[in-house]
Amino acid sequence: MSTKEPLLQPIQVGDLNLTNRVWMAPLTRSRAANEGNVPFDLHVEYYKQRASAGLIITEGSQVSKQAVGYINTPGIHSEEQVEGWKKVTEAVHKEGGHIFIQLWHVGRISHPDFHNGELPVAPSAINPHAKSFTPKGFKDTVTPKEMTIEEIKQTVLDFKNAAKNAMEAGFDGVEIHSSNGYLLHQFFNRPSNVRMDEYGGSIENRAKILFEIIDAIKEVMPENRIGLRLNPSLNGVFGMDADEETIPTFDYIVEKLNNYDLAYLHLSEPFTDVSEIPYLVTEIAKHYRPMYKGTLAINAGFDQEKGNKFILEGLADAVVFGKPFISNPDLPKRFELGAELAAWDQDTFYTPGAKGYTDYPSLQESKV
Ligand SMILES: Cc1cc2nc3c(=O)[nH]c(=O)nc-3n(C[C@H](O)[C@H](O)[C@H](O)COP(=O)(O)O)c2cc1C
Repeated sequence: MSTKEPLLQPIQVGDLNLTNRVWMAPLTRSRAANEGNVPFDLHVEYYKQRASAGLIITEGSQVSKQAVGYINTPGIHSEEQVEGWKKVTEAVHKEGGHIFIQLWHVGRISHPDFHNGELPVAPSAINPHAKSFTPKGFKDTVTPKEMTIEEIKQTVLDFKNAAKNAMEAGFDGVEIHSSNGYLLHQFFNRPSNVRMDEYGGSIENRAKILFEIIDAIKEVMPENRIGLRLNPSLNGVFGMDADEETIPTFDYIVEKLNNYDLAYLHLSEPFTDVSEIPYLVTEIAKHYRPMYKGTLAINAGFDQEKGNKFILEGLADAVVFGKPFISNPDLPKRFELGAELAAWDQDTFYTPGAKGYTDYPSLQESKV
C-alpha cells in the first residue's frame, strides 16, 4: 500500500495507467496565432512542461471551421493541425505523460467575423447577449442561425472526424466539450433551445445530439478513451439560465452515461455561488457521485487539501486543476514536496507568444 497522499496515487482509467490524480484542465490559451490555427513548437514546449499531470486535457480545439469562436485557438480538423498536434503528443508521451484533446464547438458564442460575415449556428435563433472574442477584439454576440437537421447531422460527423484525427495525431483520447455554455450545452438548456423537432422539447430530445456524438465517436476509437465534460450549475454565463428542468436534464444525461464505458466524466462544481438560485445543484460531486458509476473527475477552485479530501471521501476519483497548472508546470511535484505554488498572471492568459505561457519555471529551474 502506497503512503502517497490520495492525489498522488496512481489510477487506472479504461486501459490507461495514469501516475496520479492531478489532472490538467482544458485551458484556452490562444497561442495558435497563425493562418491555419495550427499548434506549433510553442505548444509542444508548453504541454511537455506539464507532462507530469496524471492526465493533460488540452485546450478546447475546434472540430470544424464552423466550430471556431475565439481568436488563435487550435483546431483538429485539418491535416496541418493533425501534424502540429503529433509533435505535442510525441513530446508528452516521451516524458511518460498522457494527453486527451478537448473537442469544441462554440455554437452561438461565435461571431460573423469568423465566418466571412455568415451567422454562427445554434440550436435556436436566440442571442446569448454575451461577448465574442474576435480578431478585432470583444464584440457583442449576434442572433445565431437555427441549425437545420442536416447541419446537426453534419456537426455529429464533424465531432467524429475530429476524434479520428485525434487518434491519428497520437492522442490517448478525447474529451467532448459539452459544458460551459457552448454548443452542446446550448442544446441541453431550455432557454437556448426552443426547437420543436427531435432535438428540442423533451429532455431526451435536448440531450440527443450528445449521445449521437458519443455513438459516432465510438465508431472510430475505443469507448474507454472518450471523456466528457459537464457543468450542470453554470449560471448566468453565455445565457445559460436555470429552470425547473435543469437538474432533471443533467440527471438524465449522467444516468444515461452509465450505459457507456467511458474513460471518465469530468464535472465542474458551480463556478459561482448558486446557493440562492432555485433549480441548481450546489454540491455537484455530492449529487452526482452516487449516480455515476464510472470514473469521476472534479474541477473548479480546488487546491491540494480540498482535492485530497474529495478523493479520500470518495466524492471523486481525480481532481482537475486549471489555473494552478498555468503557473506551476510541475504541479504534482509541488504537491509532493508541499512546495509553495507560483501565482498566475491573468493578463497573459490569452496573449500570443511565450510570455505567461512557457516561461513559468519548474521548481528545479527556479532553484538554478
Ligand atoms: C484561461 C482559461 C481558459 C479556459 N479554457 C477552457 C477550455 O478551453 N475548455 C474548458 O472546458 N474550460 C476552460 N476553462 C475552464 C477551466 O477548465 C476550469 O474549469 C477553470 O479554470 C476552473 O478551474 P480552476 O479553479 O482549477 O482554475 C478555462 C479557464 C481559464 C482560466
